[in-house]
Amino acid sequence: PRHLLDFQDWSPERLTAILDNADTMLQVLDRPVKKVPALQGLTVCNAFFENSTRTRTSFELAARRMSADVLTFAAGNSSVSKGESLRDTVEVLTAYKVDAYIVRHHAAGAAHLVARYSGKPVINAGDGRRAHPTQALLDAYTVRQEFGSLEGKRVAIIGDVRHSRVARSNAELLPMLGAEVVLCGPATLLPADLAALPGVTLCSNPKEAVRGAHAVMALRLQKERMNSGFLGSLQEYADVYQVNEALMAGAESGAIVLHPGPMNRDLEISGEAADGPRSRILQQVENGQAIRMSVLYHLLVGRD
Ligand code: CP
Repeated sequence: PRHLLDFQDWSPERLTAILDNADTMLQVLDRPVKKVPALQGLTVCNAFFENSTRTRTSFELAARRMSADVLTFAAGNSSVSKGESLRDTVEVLTAYKVDAYIVRHHAAGAAHLVARYSGKPVINAGDGRRAHPTQALLDAYTVRQEFGSLEGKRVAIIGDVRHSRVARSNAELLPMLGAEVVLCGPATLLPADLAALPGVTLCSNPKEAVRGAHAVMALRLQKERMNSGFLGSLQEYADVYQVNEALMAGAESGAIVLHPGPMNRDLEISGEAADGPRSRILQQVENGQAIRMSVLYHLLVGRD
C-alpha cells in the first residue's frame, strides 16, 4: 500500500516486516550517532490538526533520524483558525514539494482526504475515533518484544473503548498477527459492532477480561469526546475498571501493563500500576520512535 490510513489493505506479512524493521531502527537509536541517510532529500510534513505529545514528537524525531527535512504544521497557530479549509491548507503545503504527510485530525476520515488532496503518501497519526495505526503497531511490537511472539497471546484492553481509535486499531491489528483481544468497559462505552471483528470479544467484567491475559492495556477516559454523562461518577468508574495491582493479580503471572497515553492517573490506571515493574508504558514510547522510522522507511523507500 501507498498509505498507512488503517490496516484494510495491509497483509500480516507486510505488517510483520514493519515490526521486524523496527528491530533494526532500535539498533540505530542505540548508537552514539543516531542518524542514517535513508530519507535524505525528502520532506515530511507533520500536519497536526489536533493536539499530541507522543505521536508528533516521535514522528518528527523518526523523520529527522533518517535525514528527512520536517515541516511542522500545527493547526492551532495557523490560518485554519481563520476558517481556511483542509483542502486549501493541504494544497498550500503540497506546493512546497512535500513528499509525505503525517496527519492527526479530530475528524474520522481526514487522513484519507489529505491523501486525495495531496496525491502523496499519508500516514494516519489518529483520526477522530477511527484509527491510530502506528499506535497499534507500537503496542503489538511491545507485546512481541516481551513474549517473543504474538501468536496465542491474550491482550485485554480496558476502558473507554467507544471513543478510542487505539482500541479500534489494536482490535484490527493484533488478531491479524495471531493474538486474541478482549475489549472491556462499561456497556455504555463498549460498541457492540466491534464483536464482529475476528479474534475480538467484548466483556463488561474486568476480572474476567484479564484472566489469562499476557498484556493489559488501560485506555484514557476521553472526556473531550463525551457529549453527556456516561456513568454515575468517575469514582464509580475507577472502583470497577481501574487497572491496578489488584486487577493485575488476576492476569498471567508475567503480564505487562500498557497505556497509550496520555494517562489520567488514579482514574483508569493507578500510579502503582503505571510506574510498577509490570509497566511497559515508557517502553511503548521508546518503541514508538522505532516503529515510526520503520513505517516511514517502508512507505518512502521500500520494504527491505
Ligand atoms: N498515544 C498518543 O497518541 O498520544 P499523543 O496524543 O500524545 O500523541
